[in-house]
Amino acid sequence: MNLKELAAAQAIEWVENGMVIGLGTGSTTRYAIEMIGKRLRDGTLRDIIGVPTSSGSAKLAREAGIPLTTLQEHALIDLTIDGADEVSPDLTLIKGQGGALLHEKIVARASRREIIIVDDSKLVPVLGSRSPLAVEVIPFGWGTYLGTLRDLGCEPILRLRGAEPYLTDEGNYIVDCHFAHIDDPMKLERELNLIPGVVENGLFIGLASLVYVAAESGVRELRPQ
Ligand code: A5P
Repeated sequence: MNLKELAAAQAIEWVENGMVIGLGTGSTTRYAIEMIGKRLRDGTLRDIIGVPTSSGSAKLAREAGIPLTTLQEHALIDLTIDGADEVSPDLTLIKGQGGALLHEKIVARASRREIIIVDDSKLVPVLGSRSPLAVEVIPFGWGTYLGTLRDLGCEPILRLRGAEPYLTDEGNYIVDCHFAHIDDPMKLERELNLIPGVVENGLFIGLASLVYVAAESGVRELRPQ
């Protein structure tokens, strides 16, 4: 097993029969979705229903044979398994390189338990050191947001897919905000939320219940202090 698989294998031990499971997005969560599907097929798990956080994870779940539902039908999720781009020592996260931050945050907020699975390359002493902060904005007037974002201390770059702006599942754009470091995530989140046209940002503060970090030496479990 590679490191991502090892972290995923730990997380799926929390999945119990009859649970509503939030299905995160990304290359690490992909393993968890495949493992849940395999357990449903071999009968070691049953009556699982998934809430996908993106069209990509919905497709993977369908291929894995996991029945899907929506937050309208199941407003409370027992357990969500998701990845992250950065994990700080207090378990604040940056997410969104996969473009699914909005749905991921809504699902995380609706979850009793949010389990994050990463390899140890995602651990950072200070947020912003490894990954840009994804900020989802509505397309209308997107160019006007760049100056405001720059004033917050970052270099904002519109995410592209080929020559066109990248579109989220909600039809929005993403501006990748390159900070040298994010010293006060809570303050930054408040400031971002005040900008008209900003829909959501990739800071996940106080949302991770448990982080599995896979390294060559084994998988560590981190919990909020
Ligand atoms: C998706 O929008 C992201 O939040 C992912 O969870 C994050 O980018 C981690 O992805 P990987 O597991 O592919 O690194």
